[in-house]
Amino acid sequence: MGRLEFTSAFQRKMSYNICVGSFPHRVGEEVQRDPIRETSSPSSVAVAIRRAGAKKITTEVLEAVETPPAPFEGEPAPTPKVLVKSYGCQMNVYDATRMADLLGREGYAETSSEEDADLVILNTCHIREKAAEKIYSELGKLAIAKRALNARGRDMKIVVAGCVAQAEGEEVLKRQRAVDLVVGPQSYHRLPELLREAKSGARVADTNFAVEDKFRALPAPSRAQIRARGVSAFVTVQEGCDKFCSFCVVPYTRGAEASRPVAEIIAETERLMDAGVCEITLIGQNVNAYRGLDARGRETTLALLLERLAQIEGLTRLRYTTSHPVDMAQALIDAHGAIPKLMPYVHLPVQSGSDHILKAMNRKHDADAYLSIAESLRKARSDVALSSDFIVGFPGESDADFEATMALARAVGFASSFSFKYSPRPGTPAADREDQIEEHVKSERLAALQALLEAQRQAFNAAMVGREIDVLFEKPGRREGQIAGKSPYMQAVHAEGSIEHIGRDVKVKIIAAGSNSLSARLMSEEAKA
Ligand code: 5AD
Ligand code: SF4
Repeated sequence: MGRLEFTSAFQRKMSYNICVGSFPHRVGEEVQRDPIRETSSPSSVAVAIRRAGAKKITTEVLEAVETPPAPFEGEPAPTPKVLVKSYGCQMNVYDATRMADLLGREGYAETSSEEDADLVILNTCHIREKAAEKIYSELGKLAIAKRALNARGRDMKIVVAGCVAQAEGEEVLKRQRAVDLVVGPQSYHRLPELLREAKSGARVADTNFAVEDKFRALPAPSRAQIRARGVSAFVTVQEGCDKFCSFCVVPYTRGAEASRPVAEIIAETERLMDAGVCEITLIGQNVNAYRGLDARGRETTLALLLERLAQIEGLTRLRYTTSHPVDMAQALIDAHGAIPKLMPYVHLPVQSGSDHILKAMNRKHDADAYLSIAESLRKARSDVALSSDFIVGFPGESDADFEATMALARAVGFASSFSFKYSPRPGTPAADREDQIEEHVKSERLAALQALLEAQRQAFNAAMVGREIDVLFEKPGRREGQIAGKSPYMQAVHAEGSIEHIGRDVKVKIIAAGSNSLSARLMSEEAKA
């Protein structure tokens, strides 16, 4: 433990006691020679120490105590601020907005800055090992920031929500002492009461699969909140998964398949339309397994739900994600031909093109079944494009199995895709298999697959040039006079045009394709040319 002396300007503001472990003297000298400005925070002190030659600063090594400035008397209590950081899938993005709405009712304002936040919620993803590890490293950084704030007499509560919370529960509290609260994806409607418990000093983990209906307990967002989020919105219609793919943690973290009733979904959609939203994406872990009840208590399929939602005035675009091939009913395929508002873009994960691996993954379909769904979709609507998820290096995957995946990708021709190396998840059957694939083989296969999928994406983008399509403009573009939006295939599109077009579907002609976006000319301008 060494006490450091700072420049007088710095000392007037605050004083630090720094434990610098095994290198106190040297660090003390160096820090003094490199004067720390008045604004110095413990992290900038850490930078100074690191510059002084320390290889690694750990939270145990650096501990700063800062004397807070005395508060002005009679000042009104500032509005507490919440930062919700979401990781992973669209379900988490949706949950994050619902959490922010819920806390808005409790008096919290949203912030995008960690430094301003009184409450930070990490809405986590557990799907692959890297995703979970990323959360712990983020928590390590937050813990340092929290300690610095505490030293200045301020607090920051840290909440871990989402699938890491569900999977690890109290373990998160044990592994990171700075975490105040752990709340699962089915319990976050209880955040206000759980935060009250946390404020009184308890460290709580609530990962129960709640009996009460989370959605009914959540407040509806205000028009202003909806408007601030733009013209496109998610609506969760289904949660959970009963498929138990042998590599996947979702059935354990999100629980059994459950669908929201039709009336609730319609009411939420109408509220969004009323505030100016015109594109809705229905989301669910297994969205096409939707079986919500209608007003008469009858089960409704996703195809019927889409038909019903398409009748809502103001709605111009409908999408749904993520689907499983075995739930791709003929009625849903036909809906793509029958409902013009249903976008001709389907995310349909295949994972592998090898029947042997698909069986081991417990996907319950073979490669031919997938190819025939792709064909039927294109028959129902000729401009349908597909995107997919792939896993390479699943246990037991041979070169021939991998070649079958490449062959399937070539046969379908995807507009866009996500591909991953298999990552063993504790508690899932595939993680226990002895025939795990070596890391370098996974890397080689992933590189080959990604090269193919990227070439397909570029070819799909290039083929858009000359096409006349509708673009939903969402915001001003990066350059003056430009507007930016999305094609039916989720491609970023920009065009010269007035901001009056924002929030509407506008006919354009695609004039060029870049690697990540398309350029377009408005048809109204095209007619003048
Ligand atoms: N390893 C690698 N990828 C996985 N996914 C799910 N679990 C794993 C895992 N254990 C991928 C699948 C899924 C996507 C959301 O994440 O491709 O469709
Ligand atoms: Fe996971 Fe398979 Fe369920 Fe998708 S269908 S969430 S991959 S178990």
